Amino acid sequence: MSGEARIAWDPQARRFAPLHQEEAGIMSVAMAGALVESLPACDPVGLRRILTARTAAEAEPFRRAAEQVLLQHCGDSVRLRGLIEFSNRCVCDCHYCGIRRSNRRVGRYTLSLADIVETARWCATKGYGSVVLQAGERRDGRFVAFVEQAVCAIKAATRTPHQPEGLGITLCVGEQTADTYARWFHAGAHRYLLRMESFSPALFGRLHPPAQTHAARLACLRMLKEIGYQVGTGVMIGLPGQTPDDLVEDLLAFRDLGVDMLGMGPYIPHVDAPLEGQGEIASDAVRLQMALNMITAARLLMPTLNIAATTALQALAGDGREQGLRHGANVIMPQVTPPRVRKLYTLYDGKPCLDDNPEQCASCVEGRIRSVGRRVLWHAWGDSRHYAERMRVGPAQEDLR
Ligand code: 5AD
Ligand code: FES
Repeated sequence: MSGEARIAWDPQARRFAPLHQEEAGIMSVAMAGALVESLPACDPVGLRRILTARTAAEAEPFRRAAEQVLLQHCGDSVRLRGLIEFSNRCVCDCHYCGIRRSNRRVGRYTLSLADIVETARWCATKGYGSVVLQAGERRDGRFVAFVEQAVCAIKAATRTPHQPEGLGITLCVGEQTADTYARWFHAGAHRYLLRMESFSPALFGRLHPPAQTHAARLACLRMLKEIGYQVGTGVMIGLPGQTPDDLVEDLLAFRDLGVDMLGMGPYIPHVDAPLEGQGEIASDAVRLQMALNMITAARLLMPTLNIAATTALQALAGDGREQGLRHGANVIMPQVTPPRVRKLYTLYDGKPCLDDNPEQCASCVEGRIRSVGRRVLWHAWGDSRHYAERMRVGPAQEDLR
């Protein structure tokens, strides 16, 4: 018997079901096509099936479908965001993270305003249409004012004939008050990334100290959306104790929240973070495949989102980000943090590109994008189509989607 067609779309039940539970195996290309057709009703069984593919061969029909959906809805261009990790000072103590507050073994730094603006200007000259300002979390008044100043200064310094509005700015600096988010939005930041890490309250609780709550994080995501940001979130994949059902819950939460962007990557242990060694994790190869499967499933479920091929993918395989693009991602965040401080921003062990200068990263990244048959979208913000659509239709109809 061939390995084809062991799970099928049941139009009456409106769900995917294994034809025979015990032999649910490789899904045929035709079946993957049916999955795509059935997206609006896509249910947990179909998603779970995608997420549990353990080899590239098993995942291939889904990957191909996701790539087609991406090309059809978002085109073949890849959007660049220069990633500026401007400070590793952090008040949080996430159990998985290498720059958590209680890690005393890492030297702390904050780039000067001049360094940040200079780096952003370099991005504008290169044609990267946007930057991401990422840092550890702080909520003190000095920090809030510093970020506001940095956003204003970048906007003023990066207006070019190609981009008269200046670079697009994404912030990734954690949980803040609504006032702070609004202040930064009015200064000119128009996207915000705040990863939920896991939408499962139980798993979130195991990953964070009691002071950091699932409810507070979720409330921040809602605030950001209300203020008018393009909102991105994401989760780590392959965490100890995480199940495929947790990941299905994450996917459905992305959709229900109506986020515009996703940044997801494999969990990678850090030697000075206490989650290391707490519970079994799958091998690097399997965690990488799981992360690629999440990108695929997210693209199939939400065709118009911007999805990043993250650096963590590249930490597990040299071509991890290219694989991310092939599985449905359309954003890459080239590292532009000044090399002298890069080693201090180690969220996890084995972070790539630590020794390359931004110039090397730039030529490398374009080649990598071309190698998978895609092209770079130069000098553009590259907003998510999902955001453009929700701004046009307004919130009432958007909720119907
Ligand atoms: N492995 C993978 N990703 C990590 N992050 C932090 N620590 C790790 C780790 N050990 C990710 C989190 C966070 C982002 C800035 O980096 O998802 O939101
Ligand atoms: Fe929370 Fe670094 S301390 S992600």
